[in-house]
Amino acid sequence: MENDPNPGGASVFQHRSVLLAEVLEAMEPVPPGLVLDATLGGAGHAAALLAARSDLELLGVDRDPDALVVAAGRLERFGTRVRTAHANFAQLGDLLDELDEPLVGALFDLGVSSPQIDRPERGFSYRFTGPLDMRMDPTQELTAEVVVNTYPVDRLTRILADGGDVPAARRVAREIVARRPLETTDDLVEATNAGTPAAVRRRGNPAKRVFQGVRLEVNDELESLIDALDQTIDRLVPGGRVTVLAYHSGEDRLVKERFRRADRGGCSCPSGLPCVCGSTPEGRLINRKPIVASEAEVAANPRAASVRMRTLEKGRRAS
Ligand SMILES: C[S@@+](CC[C@H](N)C(=O)[O-])C[C@H]1O[C@@H](n2cnc3c(N)ncnc32)[C@H](O)[C@@H]1O
Repeated sequence: MENDPNPGGASVFQHRSVLLAEVLEAMEPVPPGLVLDATLGGAGHAAALLAARSDLELLGVDRDPDALVVAAGRLERFGTRVRTAHANFAQLGDLLDELDEPLVGALFDLGVSSPQIDRPERGFSYRFTGPLDMRMDPTQELTAEVVVNTYPVDRLTRILADGGDVPAARRVAREIVARRPLETTDDLVEATNAGTPAAVRRRGNPAKRVFQGVRLEVNDELESLIDALDQTIDRLVPGGRVTVLAYHSGEDRLVKERFRRADRGGCSCPSGLPCVCGSTPEGRLINRKPIVASEAEVAANPRAASVRMRTLEKGRRAS
């Protein structure tokens, strides 16, 4: 298995961890202590980090119970250094309050894992026939079927445009509404094709963006992220770091803005001049520009093509 830190582990979960070396490098300077992996998935990043740093412990969180089962197997060899929790990272505040331990590092590798996308019955992929599901956590109520069959056209347009950057969002939304009830991923693909102008269809499969918009809505991915970053930065020790891997522009914009705000501490003084407004930055950006995957990584793992990685270090003097 590619990138598998535990070849004896569950072999059905094939997910190549993106920017693995870069994540390890970003976490290298953190002090000893507890690291949060808020998107544990198949635990590729987590296992590599624990193997590289024997002075770290891990709290691994995922909202998908299937991922946690696989991760538990892969992390077994690290014994009591690992704790896992089935949770949405939107509830990190409660989880970290209960734990009552500061964090020295945190990783968010956003979005879905390859096994989620590649299993037709999860309904994430426009490439396979499946139910309109798309829930990362199968215990939650909202599914893609509810979104496409009950949302008014304006709301559908907004989620397709904001979450999916769908070029003809309103036309696709109208087509979805006209074809109700939609039952399968194929129905959504057909509505997308019918609502997308031919010139746009020639630029690539339009269903990719539509499925992304619906998936973000079903899993409330953008809202969860804002809360989770606030909670995490709050609990980092001075010198602790948070690294985020984002895969589309909406997510990356949120991360960039939150990290910039932390870096500037709300300072409104002209750039290049000393700060006289008395603001205290929460931390500092480790890279001004996001780290992206090399051509070789993208060739080996096309999922890495859109990744943007950003790291913030908590200020040594910030409260
Ligand atoms: C890209 S995968 C992580 C892969 C992992 N870094 C690895 O190397 O194997 C993202 C994982 O995050 C989980 N996830 C996404 N959003 C989440 C959220 N709001 N709360 C908890 N888990 C989430 C997904 O269920 C998925 O398993």
